[in-house]
Amino acid sequence: VSDMLIDSFGRMHTYLRVSLTERCNLRCQYCMPPEGVDLTSSPQLLSLSEILRLANLFVTSGVNKIRLTGGEPTVRKDIEQVCYHLSNLKGLKTLSMTTNGLTLARKLPKLKECGLTHLNISLDTLVPAKFEFLTRRKGHQRVLESINTAIDVGYNPVKVNCVVMRGFNDDEMCDFVELTRDKPINVRFIEFMPFDGNVWNVKKLVSYSEMLDTVVKKFPGLKRIQDHPTETAKNFKIDGHCGTVSFITSMTEHFCAGCNRLRLLADGNFKVCLFGPSEVSLRDPLRQNATDDELREIIGAAVKRKKASHSGMFDIAKTANRPMIHIGG
Ligand code: GTP
Ligand code: 5AD
Ligand code: SF4
Repeated sequence: VSDMLIDSFGRMHTYLRVSLTERCNLRCQYCMPPEGVDLTSSPQLLSLSEILRLANLFVTSGVNKIRLTGGEPTVRKDIEQVCYHLSNLKGLKTLSMTTNGLTLARKLPKLKECGLTHLNISLDTLVPAKFEFLTRRKGHQRVLESINTAIDVGYNPVKVNCVVMRGFNDDEMCDFVELTRDKPINVRFIEFMPFDGNVWNVKKLVSYSEMLDTVVKKFPGLKRIQDHPTETAKNFKIDGHCGTVSFITSMTEHFCAGCNRLRLLADGNFKVCLFGPSEVSLRDPLRQNATDDELREIIGAAVKRKKASHSGMFDIAKTANRPMIHIGG
């Protein structure tokens, strides 16, 4: 293990988020504009063997957790092979996926066999008509089925990501908490973040403190429990509930000081911060036959340029980044 993944603030990056595709089978409003986004032409996207070459470099340099994102990772036709090969990288402890759950149920047993260890499923509403409005597609019931199948095949907890937006789903928070009563679900309420094309507006942001108030009113026994210093989430439990409740407070209480995350995008760009617009291509040197050492040099230099934290929500909202669908969260 070299110091390639240690930044100038001493943060060690052990978690790589790999976006496998820019495509998605939903059209969520907080993720992309109604007309969709420009797609990178497929020869310009990383192939499975290119992903493996790069992932291997990261894992041999200290990464022990990979999360598969997108777009929607399950629309990638070779998703099982991706899981199988990544999970066999020596030194990798966790292979997780963040998915919209639309087609997950039927793929799940196989994905688990292929080494997928953890699952985060996005679900922002329990009301079918609101799901269709937000995602511009049908499929609410199938997402619910995927959550149940994930529990049945043994994922514990199944994390359910809920982006809270004022006037859309802030009235459903306690219904989401109810899901944790009898099921091993970790419901995670996420502050709405600005990305290109998602018409973010501070009025739609429901802050951590406001969310906490709403939940505590109905569940006064809500107790803070330990979270890991590198976690995105602040974790809570309620006595007698099988699952747990968390808050991801990127906007009002960022957690950048403990950040251990790096991102490899589907087009082979390497991004050291979710909100840092600077990116460097790893695909290009890879295709020009760069050696491992040359690639390590490029990665290390980018990591050293990582900022201490993001620059605050109003600044982020004004700065050009990419649409969320390209970054994968
Ligand atoms: P776990 O590994 O299960 O803790 O999940 P995670 O929170 O790392 O990943 P997930 O894909 O479930 O993302 C949940 C929310 O956290 C999404 O809104 C992400 O955009 C956000 N998120 C993930 N990583 C970062 C990060 O490095 N910085 C910020 N600000 N938000 C992040
Ligand atoms: N703000 C906060 N979270 C978001 N996600 C997508 N867009 C946003 C946004 N604008 C969430 C998805 C998914 C995770 C990768 O990020 O719901 O669960
Ligand atoms: Fe890390 Fe950037 Fe997210 Fe902060 S905003 S936690 S530095 S990725």
